[in-house]
Amino acid sequence: MAPLQTFTLFSLYLSLVSAIVITANGSFSHHFATTKLTPNAQKMTRLHFYFHDIVSGKHPTAIAIIRPKSAFGMTAIVDDPLTLDTKPRSKVVGRAQGLYALASKHNKALLMAMNFAFTYGKYNGSTLSVLGRNPVLDAVREMPVIGGSGVFRFARGYALANTVRFNLRNGDAVIRYNVTIMHG
Ligand SMILES: *[C@@H]1O[C@H](CO)[C@@H](O)[C@H](O)[C@H]1NC(C)=O
Ligand SMILES: *[C@@H]1O[C@H](CO)[C@@H](O)[C@H](O)[C@H]1NC(C)=O
Ligand SMILES: *[C@@H]1O[C@H](CO)[C@@H](O)[C@H](O)[C@H]1NC(C)=O
Repeated sequence: MAPLQTFTLFSLYLSLVSAIVITANGSFSHHFATTKLTPNAQKMTRLHFYFHDIVSGKHPTAIAIIRPKSAFGMTAIVDDPLTLDTKPRSKVVGRAQGLYALASKHNKALLMAMNFAFTYGKYNGSTLSVLGRNPVLDAVREMPVIGGSGVFRFARGYALANTVRFNLRNGDAVIRYNVTIMHG
């Protein structure tokens, strides 16, 4: 190795070591709270609710924003109510806000990217973020829950979705979601 390179590596090493020492003992890190997360601080929560995807009528909660000639690429923005029961007029516990897109050329698999924004009881104001693949014709679809806010900070888990009702005539759907998450 050429001396210059050796020297450069050595000074890089020195600056890394001093950076670590400064971070460990410097005032910088002391400005932050030092609450430690332990495995015991994790809670597990299971939620069950119904997702109403209303594409028909005067007040749709899902609208196509991209409508290619083929179905592939269709993209919809949703603000779908989440309720305690299958009936659309049952108690609303939150909304699913985000989008879904037909991201498969060969079957009906959607990309789901949405936040569940809860408005119910102690979950009011808290959210869960779901990002996953949803092959809508499968009986049960599993999607990852990749994060959360409020009482669901640090959330990770999964959602199981199954279609309860699908109206072939107008495309409206009611989907049951069972969500299991670990969180702080
Ligand atoms: C870092 O701080 C601790 C306690 O405040 C001290 O005992 C230790 O010697 C310090 N280390 C360095 C490398 O300055
Ligand atoms: C949820 O929180 C919002 C804002 O804090 C408040 O206006 C609303 O009344 C709360 N709803 C419920 C059902 O607690
Ligand atoms: C969702 O939870 C309910 C109640 O525990 C259960 O009956 C149902 O089978 C679950 N659905 C799925 C897809 O696991």
